[in-house]
Amino acid sequence: MSVSFNIAADLDAALQAAALAAGIDGADVFAPEVRTADPRNGDFQSNGVLGYAKARKLNPRAVAEKLVVALAPGVRDRCDVTIAGPGFINFTLKPATLLAWLRAFDSEDHLRAGAAAAHAGQTWVVDYSSPNTAKQMHVGHLRSAVIGEAICRMLAFTGARVIRDNHLGDWGTQFGKLIYGFKRWADPAALAADPIEELERVYKLGHAATPDDSPELNEARAELVKLQNGDPENFALWKKFSDVSLAAFQQIYDRLGIAFDHCLGESFYNDKLDRVYRELTETVPPIAEVSEGALVVFHLEHPRFKTQPFLIRKGDGASNYGSTDLATALYRAEHFRADGIVVVTDFRQGDHFEQLFLTVKKWFAAKKYRLPELHHVTFGAVTGEDGKALKTRDGGVIKLKALLDEAVDRAFAIVSEKNPELSELERREIARTVGLGAVQYADLSQNRSSNYVFSWEKMLALDGNTAPYLLYAVARIHSIFRKLEIAPSDVSTESIASMLETPAELSLARKLTKFPDGLRLATESLRPHFLSLYLYELAGEFSAFYTADKVAVDELPVRARRLLLCARTLVTLETGLHLLGLRTVTRM
Ligand code: ARG
Repeated sequence: MSVSFNIAADLDAALQAAALAAGIDGADVFAPEVRTADPRNGDFQSNGVLGYAKARKLNPRAVAEKLVVALAPGVRDRCDVTIAGPGFINFTLKPATLLAWLRAFDSEDHLRAGAAAAHAGQTWVVDYSSPNTAKQMHVGHLRSAVIGEAICRMLAFTGARVIRDNHLGDWGTQFGKLIYGFKRWADPAALAADPIEELERVYKLGHAATPDDSPELNEARAELVKLQNGDPENFALWKKFSDVSLAAFQQIYDRLGIAFDHCLGESFYNDKLDRVYRELTETVPPIAEVSEGALVVFHLEHPRFKTQPFLIRKGDGASNYGSTDLATALYRAEHFRADGIVVVTDFRQGDHFEQLFLTVKKWFAAKKYRLPELHHVTFGAVTGEDGKALKTRDGGVIKLKALLDEAVDRAFAIVSEKNPELSELERREIARTVGLGAVQYADLSQNRSSNYVFSWEKMLALDGNTAPYLLYAVARIHSIFRKLEIAPSDVSTESIASMLETPAELSLARKLTKFPDGLRLATESLRPHFLSLYLYELAGEFSAFYTADKVAVDELPVRARRLLLCARTLVTLETGLHLLGLRTVTRM
């Protein structure tokens, strides 16, 4: 019997076909909406009948009954189908179906092949991390990096060509003061040792030395104008600022396993802004207008933006964040032929992106440009356990390098306590994975819209929805195979494995078949925590199974089916954790 990877999608298609056969409307009107069910009701549930029947004043139960009668016979071979409540259709997979599914999906590649339909043939540009140069990256940029990377991986896994773009904040008026300070006070040794620290120091000096209305401020402005006009000396300095900043950022990215395809910062769009101004003013009626000297876009249909316009060029003619982001959207649509664009930032940039997207939609419609899907993926603030913004004890910005070092050190203590027999080298290696994974996972396991409380104790706990808990589950399965001296990949799929029988086996197998639906939910909503939650629940099912049913029993057919469950749990957990951007361990 053949089963496909995404059983929910299969059932959806089967109900669509049944709808047509029963003379009910087709896909354009009737959506079965098959989703993972509450386990008390079955494995999957369709609740699309309710809305459909209600809108047409039909009896939903009668519609559901018609549909079930019209279902292709193959569906009933694979699952028990029941109608519940006002018209829910529940599907419970038969043990043979579960076994067939477990046999078929045996590797990360196989899971990927199964999942690849959702975004097949599409190109997605993901703009994440995107810190400002010459400044320390802050915790917000870490969140953006971690969430953005998980989104990239989920999109790629579901078939998209993903373009990772680090949209550096590398242009703006601050460079006048920075150059002013740099020319006077930069210390080459300090610059070599910790470039960002030194750039921040000279920027502060430059800022302090150029108060409003002072002749010094005019000098700093002159430096900026020289830079903007391409003066070779200032341009070389600016280039140096970008290069050393990026090299420092890259150290963080390397630790997190992030590699950008492009770092097209704000400066990249300098020569692409005139087209934006021109096109937004030449449409009839014009999209942008001059107001008090500045170029702005009012969105009259919007309650707030009808009076609070989107600024796209300042009164003095200078570009701003709005101008560069408009040019960026066009470049991504035209040059990368993006089907989707995702920008990952702090929720406080919500208004900016809402105004940007409204403007882009009008602009592209007027020019008949193909409009990509536009997503602003936001996240809340990170706070300390006192509920206040996360800062160092003396109120400074937390250095990400120090934060990641601390995570690894703390993990090292835990790993050493659990595995005194491993060599220091091995313990360090494991601690790196566990420590960094803990920081990443703490971020990814929460709904990104909420603020999150940064707590070392919580993120490093060995139980609860944490990286150590999940990584430990992975390591434990590896150790089962190690002890039996077989490789997970050697669990033969044509083998002697007998039919799943015990409640714990069945329950674990049922959970495994939900992976595609968990991944769908996380990918569609661009919310990785749905995938985390699935993995956490899967690890819990595994734990229950492992406690209830001995794996290394003497009856070989029983042992074979239990090993099959172990191998599939392993591949699902590892694949899921890799999708979230974590590395995994084989012992812990
Ligand atoms: N540089 C900005 C910041 O540090 C984030 C940029 C996000 N991307 C964009 N296209 N605006 O907050």
